[in-house]
Amino acid sequence: MDSAPQTTIPEVTAAWQALIDHQADIDNTTIVDLFKSDSNRVGNFSAEAAGLYLDYSKNRANTATLQKLLALAEASGLQQAIENMFTGVAINHTEGRQVLHTALRSTDATPLLVEGKNIREDISAALAMMESFVSKVQSGQWQGYSGKAITDVVSIGIGGSYLGPRVAVEALRPYWVNNIRSHFVSNVDGADLAYCVESLNPETTLFIIQSKSFKTQETLTNALSAKEWYLSKGGDADKIARHFVAVSSNIDLATGFGIDADNIFPMWDWVGGRYSLWSAIGLPIALQVGMQAFRDLLAGAEEMDKHFRTAPLGENLPVILGLLGVWYHNILGAHSHVILPYDQSLENLPAHLQQVDMESNGKSINRGGHQVDYGTGPIIWGGAGTNGQHAYHQLLHQGTRWTPADFILPLKTHHKLGDHHAMLTSNCFAQSQALMCGKSLEQAKAELVAAGMPEDKADELAPHKVIPGNRPSNTILMDEVNPKTVGALIAMYEQKVFVQGAIWDLNSFDQWGVELGKQLSDSILPLLKGEESDTSSVDASTADLVTRFKSANQ
Ligand code: F6P
Repeated sequence: MDSAPQTTIPEVTAAWQALIDHQADIDNTTIVDLFKSDSNRVGNFSAEAAGLYLDYSKNRANTATLQKLLALAEASGLQQAIENMFTGVAINHTEGRQVLHTALRSTDATPLLVEGKNIREDISAALAMMESFVSKVQSGQWQGYSGKAITDVVSIGIGGSYLGPRVAVEALRPYWVNNIRSHFVSNVDGADLAYCVESLNPETTLFIIQSKSFKTQETLTNALSAKEWYLSKGGDADKIARHFVAVSSNIDLATGFGIDADNIFPMWDWVGGRYSLWSAIGLPIALQVGMQAFRDLLAGAEEMDKHFRTAPLGENLPVILGLLGVWYHNILGAHSHVILPYDQSLENLPAHLQQVDMESNGKSINRGGHQVDYGTGPIIWGGAGTNGQHAYHQLLHQGTRWTPADFILPLKTHHKLGDHHAMLTSNCFAQSQALMCGKSLEQAKAELVAAGMPEDKADELAPHKVIPGNRPSNTILMDEVNPKTVGALIAMYEQKVFVQGAIWDLNSFDQWGVELGKQLSDSILPLLKGEESDTSSVDASTADLVTRFKSANQ
């Protein structure tokens, strides 16, 4: 980047320029050198909160880098932006909404008003409603039409009505109750629902229709098909209310679908979908692990929120992660960010964080409605280690693009299988070490020669075995994966995204970009179904694709 983003705040522009000027200092050194020049680098570049330990020493940053990043945060008004969110300022200004998902996990009794009403009461009531329902289902008191207890819970939802609940349910496998099995259906591809229900018994299956808007095509289509499945398999139409509940802010549409009003768990406009697992959208979590574990999940997130709201910015985990990301994406030129949980139960954490991050900050218009002249939300990707080592770590180590990485590891595991956890851990630590240290041409050649390869052959092969190194990573440790640490971890990333949105002057809480696709799909569908035949309204490619679909399905 060769010029500071054009902002109206001189201090912000100056802070950006200082970071641009600082790039040369960092380009001329390596992470390994930074360790040599600071004997306490680990102590100086680590922090902990809410049961999480962050080692950010393997970054392309020194104390001056952090100071300049913090100056950018200060100039950008980050601290006030944080307070504005927690105190209910309508920061989602394009939708005129407050952003209060943090209230869902707060034990603070201070009244928090939305449209003059204290939402603390609504939140408590929703938790009580969840608690009562979970107790009935888990105890078998809630029965299906034939008098049997529920054994299978199918959550029908997509985006934030799916990804968050799924990752929490999967992460908390050791806490599952044994008489409930969770299933998730999200895709409008009929295979998703069909394969899910093919082995289920309608007598003992409960469907949760998860949709804040109750307008999402995929969810409503799956919900209708689930209802048809229930009836076609002998489900009692008069007792369907025992098998379908909903979580939504749209009571009218939910009751219009046929959900009993008493079985609609509330959601509110001041909770964004991708931030909603802490609300009744988390009902699948509570049904699978119990209400106490769900409350512990909330408690872990609240502990991270308190840290985020009170810790000095330089000791603040979400702030550190967010600012390092700004440094990499806006100054050093990274394009993506990879999340590498070394824990199989967290394998879908990257998928959830894709929505949290990319649907929040994948934008190019700033809060003032102007086109930005700087990079914003990075591409988020990743997967469980060690699997990724056999898929994309080649690129991480030798690709032309380097990617900042987050390694996430529980120090203890819930299973007791031999050396598995030590092996998983050694791989995790080795990967971040390899990214940092790499392997030089001299080292590569010496290894080949030492293994007996003739010098000339070693000269040919060695360049292919060079690992550039100097590739940054964070390592996030937790004692173990449990409801509190999972809550803290997800909340930490939510707040990291908030930090970056504040620095980039974005509204991180709307998602206008998803509307066009939905509109175009609505106009293509009747062409595919033969209800309309005039394809002049669509481009030649789409018209040809429609024709091919119709001929394949005639
Ligand atoms: O992707 C757009 C979006 O609105 C997400 O923000 C949301 O999580 C998802 O669709 C599902 O929305 P709903 O919960 O209203 O069905």
